[in-house]
Amino acid sequence: MKRILIKGNFIYPLSKERLEEKRNAFLIIENGRFVSFSDHAVPSDEEYDFSDNIIIPGLSDTHLHAPQYQFAGLYMDKSLLEWLNEHTFPEEAKYKDMKYAEKAYSIFISALNKSPTTRLSCFATIHEDSSFLLASMLDDAGYSGYVGKVNMDRNSPPDLTEDTEESIKSTLSFIRRTEKLKNISSAVTPRFVPSCTDSMMKALSEILLDNPGLVVQSHLCENKDEIEWVRSLHPEAENYASVYDRYGMLGRRNKSIMAHVCWPEDAELDLLENRNVFVAHSPSSNENLSSGIAPVSRMLERGINVTLSSDVAGGSSISMFSVISRALSHSRIRNAFFSDRALTFPEAFYLSCLSSSPLFSSQSGSIFPSWDADLVVISDSSIKSTLNEGLSLSERLERYVYSCAELPVVAKFIKGRKVV
Ligand code: GUN
Ligand code: FE
Repeated sequence: MKRILIKGNFIYPLSKERLEEKRNAFLIIENGRFVSFSDHAVPSDEEYDFSDNIIIPGLSDTHLHAPQYQFAGLYMDKSLLEWLNEHTFPEEAKYKDMKYAEKAYSIFISALNKSPTTRLSCFATIHEDSSFLLASMLDDAGYSGYVGKVNMDRNSPPDLTEDTEESIKSTLSFIRRTEKLKNISSAVTPRFVPSCTDSMMKALSEILLDNPGLVVQSHLCENKDEIEWVRSLHPEAENYASVYDRYGMLGRRNKSIMAHVCWPEDAELDLLENRNVFVAHSPSSNENLSSGIAPVSRMLERGINVTLSSDVAGGSSISMFSVISRALSHSRIRNAFFSDRALTFPEAFYLSCLSSSPLFSSQSGSIFPSWDADLVVISDSSIKSTLNEGLSLSERLERYVYSCAELPVVAKFIKGRKVV
């Protein structure tokens, strides 16, 4: 048994509405899981004192594109379909080259290490070998979650258009290879409806049927032109979501993550609600690519599982702190224009950690006994203010989220292992 003792100021969600604070407390971790808080030191194998810093649960990024990190912060003056064709696809085509992939994914993981993310669900590219390289590198670096080899067999440039049968073969091979990893699993990843023929969707639906433990991830109702395009490709379908649903990709058996959902119809919200889909709300990307302002509080009122995601490189920052502050601003914009309820800070923080716990294979995203010991230590010491002495931990965290989002974390633990 390995025991770790961590001393510091802890803040974590108890529920959607409530953040709990423990100041100058000792947290006991055994074998990678939380045990309890103590008000005094106990014997341990490893001890850390983070003095006045703030310690939070690890955050989860439920939708991002690892290969796109190389152009994060560029080309934001385009809308989705132009941006995909002019910038995204040419960059993703480079990941056929393993040397390029290794260099780029090393840069991506260095950036991820400085961020508060401990769990993630990401897209790679269509290339099996470099997708597996990414999954292995994330696993070695200690991260938990999902990586998808992307499927695309229509409406894509020639170097990213797969032969359907080959794509399915390499998807199955990617799934088998990934089974050997410790903490990273594969996710079935049809890029979005316009990139996948019916034969591709049908073959992927059979893989999902044979493997109920597999997660499926894709994009839904991101942008008005994209939605029109789906309507013209599938005039028989009631709506965009029903195309995924027809292929069992909307949470009936397999857990499902749908990114964006900026423009859902009521019937689509019914589907997301009834099928327990995880919505990956990507406010930074929705704003950068002029996609829309997602109706998050309406989804929450229906009990839909909303989680937060950077959608790098539609999102320009890999930091989930930055995503939390954009989620708050977007909810206020909807409040001003449509009278939707604005999110509170504790609620937005909850969406970045605890709300995605059921998506992952072990419990994480808060500090409860037996949950995964995923922790992030942040320093707000660069903020000088006359108010400092009187602030609660929640207020310090809120101020950090708005003003220090891009600062590197001080330390990060995943399943009790110090990774940074
Ligand atoms: N829809 C299909 N592919 C993509 C992508 O790479 N990024 C975003 N934001 N939307 C997409
Ligand atoms: Fe995306």
